Amino acid sequence: LGHTIHFFEEVDSTQRIAAKLAYEGAPEGTLVVAEEQKAGRGRLDRKWFSPKGTGIWMSLILRPPIPPQRVPQLTMLVAVAISQAIQEVTGLVPDIKWPNDILLHGKKGVGILTELQADPDRVRSVIVGIGINVNQTAEQFPEDIRAIATSLAIEKGERIKRAPLIQEILLRIERLYKQYLAHGFRPIKLLWEGYAVSIGKPVTARTLGGTIRGIARGITEDGLLILEDEEQNTHYIHSADIQL
Ligand code: BTN
Repeated sequence: LGHTIHFFEEVDSTQRIAAKLAYEGAPEGTLVVAEEQKAGRGRLDRKWFSPKGTGIWMSLILRPPIPPQRVPQLTMLVAVAISQAIQEVTGLVPDIKWPNDILLHGKKGVGILTELQADPDRVRSVIVGIGINVNQTAEQFPEDIRAIATSLAIEKGERIKRAPLIQEILLRIERLYKQYLAHGFRPIKLLWEGYAVSIGKPVTARTLGGTIRGIARGITEDGLLILEDEEQNTHYIHSADIQL
């Protein structure tokens, strides 16, 4: 992965560029990296703050031979790979909050956005967008997210070099991806659960259909969150905002 790298000083969003390249037939492993994004996108139509030179803003093209409903597994794979890489490079031990936020000491330092081009039964391409707050200081975050966002440098107390971290992330994704294609999701799921903070704890899930309070019991093979509410009813959550 990452044999072809498209590097940009400034883009609207690496997601848009990678999607265009994928549509035009770019091979698996193609990576788009930018120093700055003017219109970085997050999950649930949110903005992703991506200032110049302080973070890792990149999108990776994958072409897995899987049906679309298995794509959340890939996002989880990437969350594990990034967590491993952060741990290896910085010594910090990240937590994963379902579905794929990576927290450092309880604050969000990494976001992953997965988008796909697919037929009903087969994925054409998956664009995995990775945003990592690396060297921001607290004052550099917009005021409205300062209480919930952090960077590797804030948590580590020193600046972190971005290039070795990108390299380590690609290496880890490649390793887990090969394992996934050969042996399926089970080994990845175990690794993911090892990093997960919410499992076994009370959480509030804000879904489009309403708010559910309960205990997070785990994830399904497809990566859905299993939530048991106060009446012991089990809910399977596709998409939600989770509060611990
Ligand atoms: C989230 O909401 O947590 C996901 C954030 C994903 C941000 C990354 S930065 C690189 C790529 N380009 C984008 O516009 N978004 C993703």
